[in-house]
Amino acid sequence: MSLAGKQVVLGVTGGIAVYKAVDIVSRLRKMGAIVHVIMTESAARFVTPLTFQEMSANPVVVSMWGEMKQWNVEHIALATMADVFLVAPATANIIGKIANGIADDMLSTTVMATKAPVIFAPAMNTQMYCNPIVQKNIQELTLLGYQFIEPARGLLACGTEGVGRLPDPCDIVNFVVDHVAAENDFAGKNLLVTAGGTREAIDPVRYIGNRSSGKMGYAIAAQAARRGAKVILVSGATGLSHPPNVTVVKVESAAEMREEVLKNFFSCDIVVKAAAVADYRPEVAEMQKIKKNDDTLILKLTKNPDILRELGQIKERQLLVGFAAETQNVVNYAKKKLNEKNLDMIVANDVTAPGAGFNVDTNIAKLLFRDGKIVDLPQMPKEKLACCILDYIRELVTNRT
Ligand code: CTP
Repeated sequence: MSLAGKQVVLGVTGGIAVYKAVDIVSRLRKMGAIVHVIMTESAARFVTPLTFQEMSANPVVVSMWGEMKQWNVEHIALATMADVFLVAPATANIIGKIANGIADDMLSTTVMATKAPVIFAPAMNTQMYCNPIVQKNIQELTLLGYQFIEPARGLLACGTEGVGRLPDPCDIVNFVVDHVAAENDFAGKNLLVTAGGTREAIDPVRYIGNRSSGKMGYAIAAQAARRGAKVILVSGATGLSHPPNVTVVKVESAAEMREEVLKNFFSCDIVVKAAAVADYRPEVAEMQKIKKNDDTLILKLTKNPDILRELGQIKERQLLVGFAAETQNVVNYAKKKLNEKNLDMIVANDVTAPGAGFNVDTNIAKLLFRDGKIVDLPQMPKEKLACCILDYIRELVTNRT
C-alpha cells in the first residue's frame, strides 16, 4: 500500500515534537505522497520553515499575510488540493480552535475549508491531554468524522510520565496509509442509518422517550460518509451536530421514523438500524395538556410497528444490520432478533455493562452473523466500533458479489 500521487497537507503546530514532523514528511514522501506543509507561528519557533521546505520540496506556508509563492487561489488552494490532511503534532490549541470554529491563521483556516479527511495526532502534556475540555473537543470532532491518532505513553519533554507523546512517525504514516486505503471502500453504496431514540407524544408537553444518545448511529453515518457512501441518517431527537456529507432527516416518533425509512429503503444497499425505537406509544396523544387531578394516572399504550422486522420481510438485495440492546441473555436474545427479523448481522450489547450502552462514549459489542459466527469485540470508543462494524459490513457486501 502506498500514497503514490496523493496530495498530503501536513499541518504542524507548536510543540517540542515538531522535530518529529520532519521525519513524517520524509516518510510520507518515501511512500509517494506530494507533501505540502503549513506551520503555525509557534511551530516555526521550534524548527524553521526552511527545514520543512527542503524536506517536502514545496514552499511552506506560515502566515496568512505573507507573499504567496506558488498557489493562485490563495488560502483555499491547499484545502481544495488535499487528498488527506494530517495535523502532527496537534496542540490543544489547534484542536480547540477547530472544535469551536475558530479560523484565525493559515492552518485553522485551511483545515476549516477542506473537504478532505483530517487526521489529528495530538501531542501535549498529560494533564493537558486529559483535561475535560480537550477531551470534549476531541469527542466532538470525532463525532463529526475527524480522525485522531491516540498519543503514546512515556516520558514527556516536561519531565512527567504519561500519555501525550507524539507516536512514532512510522506509526503516524501507517495510520495515514490505512486511512487512505479505507477511503472510498463504500463508494457507490447507498446507506440508510437510523439513530437516537423516538419520542411518543402523551400530550403537547410530554412524551415517552428513552436514554439513547444517538452517538452510535451518528458515528456510523459519519464514518460511512467518510468512506465514500451516500448516507441518509434518519434521526430521532439527539443533541448531536450533523455529520459532514450526510443527509439528515429529523423525526420524532416511531411512526415518522417508519415513514422516512420506508420512503428511502428501496434506493438503499445497506440499512443500519441503530435507533432505539419505542416499542409502545400512548394509544391517544391528548390534544391538550393533561391536568393533574387524580392521585393516579393510567396511560394506555399500544404497540408500535417494528420497523426492522418489516424491512426484513420486504427486503430484496438490501443488507440489513440491526442492534440489540439487552440487559441479560445477550447472545440468545440477539440470535432470536437476527433470525426473526431476517437480518444479515446484529450488533448486540449489554447496556447495563460499565462502559457500554446509552449515553456513554464507549461500547462493548458482539457481532452475530447468519452463519452462526460471533465476533466478540473489546470495549472501545463508539467511533472505533463504527469503523469495525463498517469493516464487517464491507466484508459481507464483498462476499455477496
Ligand atoms: N426496532 C425497530 N422498530 C421497533 C423496535 C426495534 O426497527 N419498533 C429495531 C431497532 O432499531 C434495533 C432492533 O430493532 O435495530 C432491535 O431493537 P431492540 O429494542 O433491541 O429490540 P426489540 O425488537 O424492540 O425487542 P425487545 O424490546 O423486546 O428487546
